[in-house]
Amino acid sequence: MENKIQQIEYEVYKDASELAPEDRALLEAARKAVEDAYAPYSRFKVGAALLLANGQCVPGTNQENASYPVGICAERTALSTASSLYPGIAVRTLAVSYHNELGSSLKPISPCGICRQTICEYEQRFNTPIRIIMAGLTGPVFIVKNGGSLMPLSFSSSDML
Ligand code: THU
Repeated sequence: MENKIQQIEYEVYKDASELAPEDRALLEAARKAVEDAYAPYSRFKVGAALLLANGQCVPGTNQENASYPVGICAERTALSTASSLYPGIAVRTLAVSYHNELGSSLKPISPCGICRQTICEYEQRFNTPIRIIMAGLTGPVFIVKNGGSLMPLSFSSSDML
């Protein structure tokens, strides 16, 4: 038997003012998108913004439903929109933020498991890492260099060969 340990590396910034201008602008777009979220059930409004390889910025928000499992997260809304509007164009960076109307919005948000799986699919599809910028409406910012680092031992198409 052998024990294996996998660690993840992420950058921690005091707040958005420490970010490079391009990252700060993308996080700003995600924070702006929060306002457009449809989250009447959880009151947890999430906004995402993607920077594509062609320079386009694509927003996304969570879209809830009275039948709760039907709802979709902001990250996947953004990825599906990008893939529909700009098919074949790689995603370089994803920024995500939120406003918790029932609590604090300070702690960086990180994508849920289904969104992580989806991000990994896009990384593999375009053979391009997707940087992920995670933040609240204010406060600290975390950045990981790729979605795969949030998905150790992930399942992908290569497992079906
Ligand atoms: N949500 C997102 O949109 N992204 C995340 O990364 C975490 C959760 C949404 C799903 C649901 O509409 C609400 O936040 C509460 O879970």
